Parts: sequence; C-alpha cells; structure tokens
Amino acid sequence: MIPRMELYIDTANIDEIREAAALGVLDGVTTNPTLIAREGVAFHERMAEICDIVAGPVSAEVVALDHDGMIAEADELLKIANNIVIKLPCTFDGVKACKTLSDRGVRVNMTLCFQPLQALMVAKAGAFLVSPFIGRIDDIGGDGMDLIQQIRTIYDNYGFETKVLAASIRHPLHLVQCALVGADVVTVPMKVIKQQMSHPLTDKGLEGFLADWNARKE
Ligand code: E4P
Repeated sequence: MIPRMELYIDTANIDEIREAAALGVLDGVTTNPTLIAREGVAFHERMAEICDIVAGPVSAEVVALDHDGMIAEADELLKIANNIVIKLPCTFDGVKACKTLSDRGVRVNMTLCFQPLQALMVAKAGAFLVSPFIGRIDDIGGDGMDLIQQIRTIYDNYGFETKVLAASIRHPLHLVQCALVGADVVTVPMKVIKQQMSHPLTDKGLEGFLADWNARKE
C-alpha cells in the first residue's frame, strides 16, 4: 500500500466534524476531556454521534489514572461503536493498560507524549497510535518537531508499526513540517484545516480571472 498522511480533526464539535467530513478527505477524529467539556454534552452520547458521521478511527479518552480504572472505562467506551480508539495517557499505568488492551486487539492512542522514550515504550506495548503534542512543546520554548523526527527515526530503526499522530497543531507550518518529517497522521483543529487551502495569491488570481471573464468580448 502506498503510504499517505492521514488527516484527523481534533474536536468534539459536531458541526465542525460534519463540515470536515463533507470535504471527503477526513480519515478520523480525536477528542480529549477538555474538548468534550467545552461542548457541554454527555460524553458517551457525543462519541456515538461522532462515530455515526466518521467511519475511521475516533479517539475517546479515559480519565482514570490507574490500570484497572482505565480498562473499566475502556470497556464501556468500546461498546459505543467499533471504530472507537481508546485514548490513554503516556504514564506507567497507561503503558500497562495499553499492553492489556492491545493484546486483546483493541486499538489504543497513547496521548500526552512529550519525549521519545514514552513513544518507544508505547510502541513496545502495541499502541496503534502515539500522540506527540507539538504545540505544547513549542509553547514552552522547545521544538515540537524535533520530537516527531526522533520518534520517526526510532520507529523506523526498529520497524515499529505504531503510527505517529502529530497532535497539538497550531498552524499550517506545523503541517508542512509534519509532512516533510513523515508523520503518519496529523490531527488538526478546524481553523487550521481551513487555513490549509487559503492563500492570498489564490484569491487575487481568482479575482483577476473573474474580472477578465466578465469583461470579455465574444
Ligand atoms: C490530541 O489528540 C489532542 O486532543 C490535541 O491535539 C491537544 O491540542 P492542544 O495542545 O491544542 O490542546
């Protein structure tokens, strides 16, 4: 299969998900507790609504911090739809729960990844996705893209199949850099999805074409 960069939307807002899905190039959705809380809706009901719209992977995050609590929450979330991906934190218990679920064939997205060894451990535990947070590293004066590059190299060195999902994307330049470095998936807020197809020279060019078209003599 030819490798391709998958595009997810990072939101729990139904209107945004519908609008992005209508583009025809949306591959999945990521949510987190903050995004769900922002919507002021019931968690499981909203996840079901999202899974009705998007057939690809839809990440739903647990809030338990311990292994058994994470598994119990995951089991409830998995009843919602068969495209639910369980999102767990990159912690000691998170890795353990990732291994438990991955061994059962459940797809897991390991979130809040801020250093390459977290990514190495979750790949060993069979994670389907790892989510390095680029923007939050940039926010504190680091370089989030270095982390994506390091994880890409480590996964390629050992042939890990865990997909690198670049998260916490703030602007189109992050997307360009992700594509150059070889992130497997990017999860993008609606504002940045729209910015991807925007350029003042495109607008100016269209304006000129239309003005010339309308002034033509036949
Ligand atoms: C990813 O799955 C997260 O939901 C998200 O990208 C976090 O981004 P933020 O740093 O903008 O909150």
